Amino acid sequence: MASSLFSPTNVGPVTLANRIVVSPMCQYSADDGCANDWHLMHLMQLAISGAGLVVLEATAIERQARITHGCLGLYSDANEAALARVLGAARRVAPPHTRWGIQLNHAGRKASAQRPWEGRAALGLREDPWPTEGPSAIAAGTHWHTPREMSLDDMTRVREGFVAATRRAVRLGFDVIEIHAAHGYLLHQFLSPLANQRTDPYGGSFENRMRFPLQVAMAVREALPPGVSLGLRITGSDWTPGGIEVAETIAFADALKARGVDYVCVTTGGVVNARIAVHPGYQVPFAAEVKASVKLHTRAVGMIVDARQAETIIATSQADTVALGRAFLDDPRWVWHAAQSLGDEESIVYPPQYERSKPGLWAGAQLARPGTANAS
Ligand SMILES: Cc1cc2nc3c(=O)[nH]c(=O)nc-3n(C[C@H](O)[C@H](O)[C@H](O)COP(=O)(O)O)c2cc1C
Repeated sequence: MASSLFSPTNVGPVTLANRIVVSPMCQYSADDGCANDWHLMHLMQLAISGAGLVVLEATAIERQARITHGCLGLYSDANEAALARVLGAARRVAPPHTRWGIQLNHAGRKASAQRPWEGRAALGLREDPWPTEGPSAIAAGTHWHTPREMSLDDMTRVREGFVAATRRAVRLGFDVIEIHAAHGYLLHQFLSPLANQRTDPYGGSFENRMRFPLQVAMAVREALPPGVSLGLRITGSDWTPGGIEVAETIAFADALKARGVDYVCVTTGGVVNARIAVHPGYQVPFAAEVKASVKLHTRAVGMIVDARQAETIIATSQADTVALGRAFLDDPRWVWHAAQSLGDEESIVYPPQYERSKPGLWAGAQLARPGTANAS
């Protein structure tokens, strides 16, 4: 019987061939926002993964919106041309059903940071730091830069930056635009009272705190042609007393749905340092609550690593799609292996050049992946 994981689904106007999404993952390897050969390699291997949707990493809407010096950007013609090269190459080798998304981001008070392998700390004076901005002049933690509180003009500039980056992404042919409103970056900072202490109409009540993120979402929506899907990555919990809890997440998702947003991806954490009990599928209950309450296309993410675990999430309607991050870095052929273990190999498109690696055609598969060799 065909699996739920490999059944098609619609995300707004876009049809996905299966429920598997490559989660956005910063590569911290760009040159002033420009994609290079690392991104080419990264996207080329994901291109033939068989995932229904590949979402490119958090991409800065302006130069100062980058998390690190290595973040991808869509704030210049050079950025756009560089991304056209790597995306074009990836599209040319991908199975035709593959859909492509890009996550647009402003890092807010978490900008001007070191790459993970440099320590993840705020950039020091000798590391070419830049001034950061946020809803309030509250640092993300000790030793972080204190951001400048954004004025209404700053907010207009940032909203227009999201729109300008969206227009570039549309020109590049992306099927899906994802706005990052989680992991403690700017739009999440506006949503969370842990980072937003404003006393104007953009702070205080949840209605006020979601005003700016909603304005950004609406401006991006208006810039999109009919065939492009719009989603947001949102937070299910700040894991901290006084922070966002799932009732507010549901209210936010409801407001997004009312404004024509096609999907949400529910993640958690990142606005402050919090203790999170991570275990397989630990964020799925937040997605399930949002999906059940709001009836909006919902993606789950976080420690989804096993094909049967992913199948159960979809089959039991806890989410409409699942995003995997590290599992794809570890195994870009995750989709093929999942199809094998679910006995659903007909659902995937092997590039003919690699067809001889199919378990049924290669006795060595038993040695490479014990337990899956006879699944086809
Ligand atoms: C190397 C790396 C980079 C990431 N970059 C982003 C990003 O650009 N945007 C984002 O929303 N999440 C980012 N994340 C989080 C992942 O998208 C995902 O939500 C998280 O890793 C949990 O999923 P997993 O357990 O399947 O890896 C990143 C994670 C990793 C490991």
